[in-house]
Amino acid sequence: EKGGWSSFMAKEVSEEPEAVANTLRGRLHEGAVTIPELDGLDDLFAGINRIIVIACGTAAYAGMVGKYALEQWTRVPVDVELAHEFRYRDPVIGPDTLVVSISQSGETMDTLMAVKFARERGAKTLSICNTQGATIPRESDAIVYTHAGPEVAVASTKAFVAQITALYLLALHVGRVRGALSDAASVEAVRELEAVPAKIVRVLEKEQAHIEQFARWMGDTQSVLFLGRHVGYPIALEGALKLKEISYIHAEGFAAGELKHGPIALVEPGQAVFVIVPSPRHSAELHKKVVSNIQEIRARGARVIAVAEEGDAAVLPFADEVLRIPLAGALFEPLLAVVPLHIFAMGLATAKGLDVDQPRNLAKSVTVE
Ligand code: BG6
Repeated sequence: EKGGWSSFMAKEVSEEPEAVANTLRGRLHEGAVTIPELDGLDDLFAGINRIIVIACGTAAYAGMVGKYALEQWTRVPVDVELAHEFRYRDPVIGPDTLVVSISQSGETMDTLMAVKFARERGAKTLSICNTQGATIPRESDAIVYTHAGPEVAVASTKAFVAQITALYLLALHVGRVRGALSDAASVEAVRELEAVPAKIVRVLEKEQAHIEQFARWMGDTQSVLFLGRHVGYPIALEGALKLKEISYIHAEGFAAGELKHGPIALVEPGQAVFVIVPSPRHSAELHKKVVSNIQEIRARGARVIAVAEEGDAAVLPFADEVLRIPLAGALFEPLLAVVPLHIFAMGLATAKGLDVDQPRNLAKSVTVE
């Protein structure tokens, strides 16, 4: 039930803090991660030398974010691949490959078939899923459930932040099992994870009304670009996907470093560009590069909407709008930076009078290939 909200999507965005908190619940103890569902699988995790993450749509973008954490904390090489591409090639996989599937519904046919394909070729399979007892987890060797609660709106929002959370828990667990993660790094990551729900609440409280207002003001926009770097890159892709899905306008996400290799040709006066700005506290170098991207597109007349951490004043002279997120560790920024993009997509679709829960031509779960 919508319970007073104008749409399921509005309700589900408001539930992003709980989606993270509930996915963490019972899995953090004294600075370490314990996932009871993974008990007895230490040998499996110790025996792999490669991880391939497969998914479709928003879940694949969660996978792209997860790659950074999986590699950092487990030191196992990770590839992320669209499920429908993976199963129609001849991938080099075997018993030392862990294929991690991500699916909110657990019923997406492309993802399910890719999991079966991986198993037939002898790989180990682990399902990150939001639906208890769904087909994909039943077909997998191991399961880490997300606890986002039922997601009704076709465009995925709270499941996305829960999927990233589950991937981080998995990465911390596997990193510890393999001896790749120091106690200090584990304690720090757990502290960051625990702080995420309250930080998302803060984004909603401080920015939602502001974003909805300028989304209304941008109601006639025909095209929006999204730029991000490092973990901000998949967030740019997710921001663009959400806008396409529910507001039916052209939207594209790019890696900010690609700007001069092509996308900058698209920038003409008035073009709206969202830029996810990494914190200068983590990498002064990356921050500087993204700020200089902003200057480059601004010089060509772009309307820049920066998503930047609180207190980052470097973006102010060049941005038309600045959407603030609280300070967080580098890997934890995506869980915050995506929230303004979800609100914006919803705000723009609402301004256009569209049904945000049931966008045309899309289904919540695609159970055909
Ligand atoms: C699409 C949905 O059809 O499937 C997306 O519209 C979703 O929102 C994608 O991200 C994958 O779905 P699932 O259930 O496998 O996560």
